[in-house]
Amino acid sequence: MNAPAKREDLSGIDLLAEIERLKQERNAIILAHYYQKPQIQDLADFVGDSLELSRKAAETDAEVIAFCGVKFMAETAKILSPEKTVVLPDLNAGCSLEDSCPPNKFRAFREKHPDHIALTYINCSAEVKALSDIIVTSSSAEAIIAQIPEDQKIIFGPDRHLGGYMSRKFGREMLLWPGVCIVHEAFSETELLKLKAEHPGAPVAAHPECPPHIIDHADHVGSTSSILKFSKETEADTVIIATEPHIIHQMEKAVPEKNFIGAPGADGNCACNICPYMALNTLEKLYLCLRDLEPQIELDEEVRLGAKKSLDRMLEMSAGKVGQGDLGPKDLAHEGG
Ligand code: 13P
Ligand code: SF4
Repeated sequence: MNAPAKREDLSGIDLLAEIERLKQERNAIILAHYYQKPQIQDLADFVGDSLELSRKAAETDAEVIAFCGVKFMAETAKILSPEKTVVLPDLNAGCSLEDSCPPNKFRAFREKHPDHIALTYINCSAEVKALSDIIVTSSSAEAIIAQIPEDQKIIFGPDRHLGGYMSRKFGREMLLWPGVCIVHEAFSETELLKLKAEHPGAPVAAHPECPPHIIDHADHVGSTSSILKFSKETEADTVIIATEPHIIHQMEKAVPEKNFIGAPGADGNCACNICPYMALNTLEKLYLCLRDLEPQIELDEEVRLGAKKSLDRMLEMSAGKVGQGDLGPKDLAHEGG
């Protein structure tokens, strides 16, 4: 764990006005994931899913990126835009999937399976990205797997549920790393079935990080942005949302006349499904990181370049620009991590 942020009395400060002022002064952009608190989503310049946020980080001409999300997302911004200053309001904003996959263990796993390419979910460290062939997000995984030759063996990590979902969808065996998202793992099938019975006809929209016993009851499965799109477009007036509930803020803003219900955890309410890492970011910490330009994301250059290769592949393949002949397992001898 990193040292806790220094405590300062900020009670006399108009945080919203100061954040706006600092943003101009620093030529900064604020990027936020859909799982951030509503007040942070509302002041961000851009709110999106992991793929959209990485595209935005790669193309912005701001000098500073204040990343309201978790560490692997801010690292992705730094990998793609090394000349920019990337700050994260709280450096302890990690991810259970990243924690499940230490680089040394991942390297050893890859070395055991040299004929497999590694397709790795973006929810991992920069070191693990550098040890991977292609990064995927929940919104790019399907399009990318569809481009990989049938006879090419695949390691999918670190999310075994997203990997398992893709494996079932393509009828294609994959070696799955055993990581899970603690948030999506907490949804209860029993409570979901009770909720469905209380709201007959309400479709369930689920994130593919959910375990199969939740996915099996879903009418729509997709990334956060895809769940948001489905929720806006469905004719149903009540929708059950099986992902981190802060995304409901965007749904309520877009279609206030509809009713969005967060899927429950085992105790029957969804408090256990709030991502504890995303929740570490606050308005106060966002103000401080713009003022002090810290904590900053810093990466070893060799690791950054290795990670950039696999991220660039994702960006190209999700835009349909890489031919199948370019694909093949990475030579780990040359990779950092
Ligand atoms: P997406 O926003 O890419 O669907 O990812 C969800 C997530 O868990 C991010 O941590
Ligand atoms: Fe990681 Fe899950 Fe939190 Fe996303 S919601 S950051 S996958 S712990």
